[in-house]
Amino acid sequence: MQANSLKGNNNDKNIDFYNNIGVDPFKIMAEIGGFDSFIDLELAYEYIKNTNAVVELGAGYGRCIDFLKKKKYKGKIYAVEYSNTLAMHLKDNYTPHATILQQDIKKLKLPTKVDIALWMWSGFIDFTESEQQECIEIVCGQLNEGGKIIMDLPRFGVQTFAQHADKQHIHFESPYGNLDCFIPNLENIEKYAQKAGFKKVAMKDYKTATEKERSLYILYK
Ligand SMILES: C[S@@+](CC[C@H](N)C(=O)[O-])C[C@H]1O[C@@H](n2cnc3c(N)ncnc32)[C@H](O)[C@@H]1O
Repeated sequence: MQANSLKGNNNDKNIDFYNNIGVDPFKIMAEIGGFDSFIDLELAYEYIKNTNAVVELGAGYGRCIDFLKKKKYKGKIYAVEYSNTLAMHLKDNYTPHATILQQDIKKLKLPTKVDIALWMWSGFIDFTESEQQECIEIVCGQLNEGGKIIMDLPRFGVQTFAQHADKQHIHFESPYGNLDCFIPNLENIEKYAQKAGFKKVAMKDYKTATEKERSLYILYK
């Protein structure tokens, strides 16, 4: 396959995959990735624990809501999900623990501003580079002063389970549909953050329960 053919899809096309996958296979993917033990969220929790409101961007099958429930998080939880099937699953299983909003992050509008935007398990790479810049600006507008975006991404430069056209453009084919993704590096994230008006960016490397190499980025408003 030519490298350029791996750079085709935008976020709207990737949503087909999430509409088709179904909750159980999605949970199996979380196990394979080593995310079912919440190792990423345990790291993020120091930023979350004393806050009043969180939005989870791309809430999937409810993994982060499960974690916040387990921690007895007292703040308000908004869970944003674009896929019809996953949004329906979240409404059926997570109301009233969280307010489920079926929205497109590219047009995010929350009922109230929040302290933390959680964007875990590679959700951000579902967007093209230009979409990523737009999303960071939109999400920044939904954060309180002093708020943060916490984002979990594959470690830059590490081979993932997908096909790599280069270090940033990856393509994943499955019976549920294809995903085309853009993995940003620290330089990309710093550029997005600066343009959106964030004060600083921090990065922490870690490994999941199945030894996948990851980076957690914290964007400070
Ligand atoms: C890789 S999953 C991450 C799931 C969850 N955050 C977790 O950590 O378990 C990405 C999620 O983002 C959702 N998503 C992708 N594009 C979206 C968009 N434009 N607006 C809202 N949700 C979106 C997908 O449907 C999927 O549920």
